[in-house]
Amino acid sequence: MADSIVIRKLPPIRFIRALNAFRSGLFRLYSRSFPANVVMYERFTAFWILPAIRVAAELDIAGILEKEPMTIEQLAVRTDSNPGSLSRMMRALSSEGIFKKNKTGQYKNTSLSRVLSDGKGSLRFAMMQHLGSLNWNLFSEFPHTIKTGKSAFSMVYGQKIYDYLSGHPHESELFDRSMTNLSEISIEPVLSAMDFSNYPVIADIGGGEGLLLSSILYQHKSSSGILFDLPEGLTRSGIILNKYGVANRVKVMEGTFFDTAPAGADAYILKNILHNWSDEECLKILKNIVEVLPARGKILILEMVIDEKNHSSFGKLIDLQMMLFMEHGKERTRKEFESLFDQAGLRLNKIIQTVAPIRVIEAVIK
Ligand SMILES: C[S@@+](CC[C@H](N)C(=O)[O-])C[C@H]1O[C@@H](n2cnc3c(N)ncnc32)[C@H](O)[C@@H]1O
Repeated sequence: MADSIVIRKLPPIRFIRALNAFRSGLFRLYSRSFPANVVMYERFTAFWILPAIRVAAELDIAGILEKEPMTIEQLAVRTDSNPGSLSRMMRALSSEGIFKKNKTGQYKNTSLSRVLSDGKGSLRFAMMQHLGSLNWNLFSEFPHTIKTGKSAFSMVYGQKIYDYLSGHPHESELFDRSMTNLSEISIEPVLSAMDFSNYPVIADIGGGEGLLLSSILYQHKSSSGILFDLPEGLTRSGIILNKYGVANRVKVMEGTFFDTAPAGADAYILKNILHNWSDEECLKILKNIVEVLPARGKILILEMVIDEKNHSSFGKLIDLQMMLFMEHGKERTRKEFESLFDQAGLRLNKIIQTVAPIRVIEAVIK
């Protein structure tokens, strides 16, 4: 199984930046060339396509079509759906390049629809989770968050997200699988930008199902790892560690990062963790790691870094999700990271760019 795993080396950052600048230029040209109300209404169409993507993911239409192309009638039987409604949904999705109808009236996958099936590069669970009712309900309470500054999650569900997930195993599994899907997007960019070979023992704190740690250890056969998370975050970790053939090099540890950090690692990864928490909570997490960090050890924080410029930024959008989801979650600027580190007895050593929006922020003892 482990032999089928491919971790690609990505093109240089300069090339991707040039491509992105070209793309942004095209978008600006389009925005200026059409009436503003047309441009705005076209952006709004995502509202209709997104629920269709959710349903396609939930019904695993892409997984079914991966085996063989099907007519709407066949697909309707297979997914227990209404043929008329399904046909209109597939027509709309295909008009956006998600699925394709061939000349004989059968639907098949495109590169975009294939992302909704399981396997490498899949976003199936991410789409099901982000577009599913747990999250969708929050967005209808967006005004509450803007008016009060409080998380929509606590208002809608009466408790904080991770407390809620610990009592809802099905939602929790979907959440973890969604995180793993999203993690996969940043793993190749991070591994292409960053050399982990200097770290004999690597701990991933809040590492969830362990895909990042497994990928690192798959590349670095002489390193070993510690995967640390809440029990519910770790439920499927064994499957991934075994798939990558690294289970015998990983100590899986249950615990809360607000109380402790496991000793014995040279590098401590926090990927998409600090953006969930307030400065006070982040300080607790960081100080617990500082207590066990060797003098030359590193804390590697994998997060977006927000800048104040006007250009389009993935981090500024995901920040809205944090605002709704978490009590005090937020994406941070470089200055905000520096201030956090300073209070935890750390200093920002460097920020490593990747071809993706995610950055590796290195913190070391002051
Ligand atoms: C946003 S997810 C990120 C998961 C993973 N690092 C990734 O990037 O895919 C946050 C993770 O933090 C874990 N977590 C939440 N509260 C925690 C706590 N108090 N102690 C340890 N882990 C926690 C969750 O279970 C989840 O796996």
